[in-house]
Amino acid sequence: MAFPKGFLWGGAIAANQAEGAYLEGGKGLTTVDLLPTGKKRWDICLGDLPSFQPLEGEFYPSHTAIDFYHRYKEDIALFAEMGFKALRVSISWARIFPNGDDKLPNEAGLKFYDDLFDELLKYNIEPVVTIAHFDVPVNLVENYGSWKNRKLVSLFETYATTLFKRYKDKVKYWMTFNEINMLLHLPFVGAGLVFKEGDNKEQIKYQAAHHQLVASALAVKACHEISPGAMIGCMLAAGMTYPYTCNPEDVWDAMEKDRESFFFIDVQSRGAYPGYAKRFFKDHNITVEMEDGDEELLKNHTVDYIGFSYYASRATSTDPEVNNMTSGNVFGSIENPYLEKSEWGWTIDPRGFRITANQLYDRYQKPLFVVENGLGAIDELTAGGEVHDDYRIEYLKKHVAEMSEAIEDGVEILGYTSWGPIDIVSASTGEMKKRYGYIYVDKDNEGNGTLQRTKKKSFDWYKKVIETNGESI
Ligand code: BG6
Repeated sequence: MAFPKGFLWGGAIAANQAEGAYLEGGKGLTTVDLLPTGKKRWDICLGDLPSFQPLEGEFYPSHTAIDFYHRYKEDIALFAEMGFKALRVSISWARIFPNGDDKLPNEAGLKFYDDLFDELLKYNIEPVVTIAHFDVPVNLVENYGSWKNRKLVSLFETYATTLFKRYKDKVKYWMTFNEINMLLHLPFVGAGLVFKEGDNKEQIKYQAAHHQLVASALAVKACHEISPGAMIGCMLAAGMTYPYTCNPEDVWDAMEKDRESFFFIDVQSRGAYPGYAKRFFKDHNITVEMEDGDEELLKNHTVDYIGFSYYASRATSTDPEVNNMTSGNVFGSIENPYLEKSEWGWTIDPRGFRITANQLYDRYQKPLFVVENGLGAIDELTAGGEVHDDYRIEYLKKHVAEMSEAIEDGVEILGYTSWGPIDIVSASTGEMKKRYGYIYVDKDNEGNGTLQRTKKKSFDWYKKVIETNGESI
């Protein structure tokens, strides 16, 4: 059987996309609370439109989300019914340190996650916890310049250390930064970066990346000291880039595109800046300022496993005539004529999942953890209260089959937490109608709905997959 005993089947959500209650329990404002739906969203995500307060007349989906903050017991009971072995959640930094630089943590925030973890453990569901999933307390953005500023490193260290001390008896799987490579593509989402006219964006992004990488190494160090039985990983938005043709120019271009992402994991997992990054900095006049001891920290405190999300593969061409672009988790990509796309233009490529898993394992030789995968689609709730999401089952089936092949290939995989097991707010668009769940939530893009939860057809399908440890897909 491909899937090992104890394989962690489950689902993954993020605080800001599920919890709502954005100012309850002493929580402060975070970057994601400033992302409205509609036209302004994209420029804010890119860091080109500064916004430090919610704006009059805009709708902010994270403020209420699916109200997981109040309904987590009901939702976890449904996850338990599916047989989940793990639930990946993130902790909202601003629930614990509302301003990011507070002297003491907010007890109400700490207690919320204590209760959440207890509820999971009651059903033997392992919490898998991301320390920073696209959120930075707004005070740190406005008054420190967010991750541009070296001071964020020690503030993050304090935050992470507080979590390890508090939850060391409850949490065995941690991750530092969600999709750390997203910083290069959506700098405000990934790192709270806001630019001024004339800024050298590449310089600012790579300096911020260095700060996150050092902060990540310090978190690994603290986790190993405080909670020696735990594992702590990195998290990459993965999906390999195919050359459009076998022209070596295309092949080289594809390699460079993948290295943009691998750069982060090379540092977090292999412990040093790779040669190709040094050359890139030299060629682009980028100077990354490091403090004494940084290189040693990076070397000595590498991650235990490689967490990654996989939704789609990408393709690239150096031929200006080949320019039919499609979207794909914000990574630009040429349309791949061999593959279909989702309703949002994301390429569907199950075999690419196996390729990506093999590629990551070949490169890092550490266990992998698939912490996101799934299909964002429009679901119809029938008059009889059913959702026939066969397209989702189809997508997941093919991906689980390829994951099983990857395991047969010798790739070590700790678990699979599919994205959004219950419908949540979309990170890229802020929409509710882009649904990933096995459980339907009655809420629309404008925030209307009863929030009632309804099992979709995929609910029973996934239950069976888990029950049979992947034998029956
Ligand atoms: C990943 C993120 O980029 O993809 C999640 O880690 C996100 O937060 C997921 O929700 C799916 O993207 P989207 O835009 O469809 O919600």
